[in-house]
Amino acid sequence: MCRVEKPLVFITRRLALDPARVLGPGIAVDQHDEEVPPPRPEFLRRVHDAAALLPILADRVDAEVLDAAPRLRIVANHAVGTDNVDVAACTARGIWVTNTPGVLTESTADLTMALILALARRLREGEQLLRSGKWPGWAPTLLLGIELAGKTLGIFGYGRIGRAVARRAEGFGMRVLFSSRGGGVDFEELLERSDVITIHAPLTPETRHAFGPEQLLSMKRGALLVNTARGAIVDEAALVAALNSGHLAGAALDVFEHEPQVHPALLGRNDVVLLPHLGSATRETRARMAEVALSQVELVLRGERPTTAVNQVMRP
Ligand code: DGY
Repeated sequence: MCRVEKPLVFITRRLALDPARVLGPGIAVDQHDEEVPPPRPEFLRRVHDAAALLPILADRVDAEVLDAAPRLRIVANHAVGTDNVDVAACTARGIWVTNTPGVLTESTADLTMALILALARRLREGEQLLRSGKWPGWAPTLLLGIELAGKTLGIFGYGRIGRAVARRAEGFGMRVLFSSRGGGVDFEELLERSDVITIHAPLTPETRHAFGPEQLLSMKRGALLVNTARGAIVDEAALVAALNSGHLAGAALDVFEHEPQVHPALLGRNDVVLLPHLGSATRETRARMAEVALSQVELVLRGERPTTAVNQVMRP
């Protein structure tokens, strides 16, 4: 009797959910159960027999990976963004690419609001002062920030997360403007009118360095910039220059151009808040992201169409 081999999924990290809770017994699992990535040669070796790959946003899924994975039928990205995946190359090879939309909207919007508040009320500087033992006591002019009520928030990119941030900001009494491919005000107007700008667009060739030297200097003098989307939407060197010149009053970044590296000039600044890409980092959201990604693997390996595909391929 010939034994039918189970299709294999290669999961590149530890997940917030045990894969066995979603995957049926008909799927074999090879999981790199660590928080750090496998070295690239090991990654390429382990993907060789996989029918499904479940990478995270830091894994580059390019032609080299696809060449190493001749059996691949799905790349189930554990993220809503798919800029780490060469989607066109996958489509050309009949490989589905899926993402995890919807499930991280509220957690990312919460973190964005936390960063806006942290900048506006100088939380980082206040905490640092207190911990340094140099707090002289309450004083009428100590560490004055700005009030959000009545200020204008400009949202760049107005998908699910952008809209969820708008709802929160309105609760704080902010006026909300947005600029996106689908509408809103012109990008130039957003830059000129906003007291705080927050970025919620995907990283594409069009949005890469959308906030370069010219755009940052078109922002209001004293404005604040928040980025919880993708680092490369902001030209970090240009941001450092805009902060150095005093044109911008501060920035809060959860994402960076070359993660996990951070532009060294940002690290020592008091007017920036820096976080290690925590937008979706709640227990609830990370479990849901894993569940969505794993369920796409299950669907495709059962021969069904995935429900969160970002491409269209000919085979089911
Ligand atoms: C995503 O899913 O794209 C987010 O950046 C994860 O936090």
